[in-house]
Amino acid sequence: MVDLTRRRFLQSAAAASTFAAPVAARAPRSGAGWLRAPVAIASGNGLQAVELAVQRMIEGWRPVDAAVAGVELVENDPNDDSVGLGGLPNEDGVVELDACVMDGPSGLGGAVGALQNIKNPAQVALKVMRHTDHVLLVGEGALRFARAHGFAEENLLTEASRKAWLEWREKRSARDKWVSPDENGEHGREWFQKYKHKTGTIHLGAIAANGDVGSCTTTSGLAFKIPGRVGDSPLLGCGNYCDNDVGTGGATGRGEACILANGGSFVVHQMALGKSPLDACLEACRRVVRLTKVKRLLDEKGRPDFQVQFYAANKSGETGAAALYAGKYAVCDAAGARLVDLASLYDEPPR
Ligand code: GLY
Repeated sequence: MVDLTRRRFLQSAAAASTFAAPVAARAPRSGAGWLRAPVAIASGNGLQAVELAVQRMIEGWRPVDAAVAGVELVENDPNDDSVGLGGLPNEDGVVELDACVMDGPSGLGGAVGALQNIKNPAQVALKVMRHTDHVLLVGEGALRFARAHGFAEENLLTEASRKAWLEWREKRSARDKWVSPDENGEHGREWFQKYKHKTGTIHLGAIAANGDVGSCTTTSGLAFKIPGRVGDSPLLGCGNYCDNDVGTGGATGRGEACILANGGSFVVHQMALGKSPLDACLEACRRVVRLTKVKRLLDEKGRPDFQVQFYAANKSGETGAAALYAGKYAVCDAAGARLVDLASLYDEPPR
């Protein structure tokens, strides 16, 4: 586990103090005073990401830029099959990425959806926020915009993700012309079930020591989705939201459920009404359960048969996260970077 000790924090803070002016110059708006250290919260695949984000904020980076720097580690990791390079592709075998960013102090956001060939969509989302009067660009338009800003194009399909797609293609149906040599479709349905709701994603919420907030979510989305499908991750208010007077809220897991629940903004709104980050996330989980009504999405006990996780941080640096089913999330604060158990409505791991 990556450990950011208090001593390293103090050393870093001392080293950074000479060039921390962009953040340090702004007075805290909460009236609650300065935090002991910046804070970052992320999904369970973000342990190194939260540590880097906190480090960047100590160096004076804006929270939104620190969040994007953190998630970039995961976007560049070919072994994470839910984000950036190596993300599982759409049903045509093409990787399509979604991301959004939000900057608390300016109240601005930027996003890209169904972006192909660019492994760092969160960076492109930052450019949308800073270089356009729009919030969301999708598909070919997003790619052309990324090209205009000098992003390099590359094939995002790795050998592992191509093989996973091919296996899915061969086994998903016994009624098409794709055939799996080893199973010939016999067990294909079971395998298809396994990938039915396969999502991953990284969300990262960042709170600077002065209470400014920023956030980011980036993903390759639902595995083997219909081309053009956009999940919650690039939709501000769904997979990601922040309000500089309140804090950050974000989600990972089944994007359709989070969109229908407006998860990110719901979490932030709950905190604005006075709930702790943990209680805000638990309330969002209950909302997903309440809104999930169709039988095809319920298990034999009547519970949603998919996973959704919510993450929250407030301006005072308190964090919390909750999910329908058990799991972990990552946090970094004055005590260092660590993985923590998610609070969950149900004890089991996700199906
Ligand atoms: N939460 C990621 C997605 O469903 O696309």
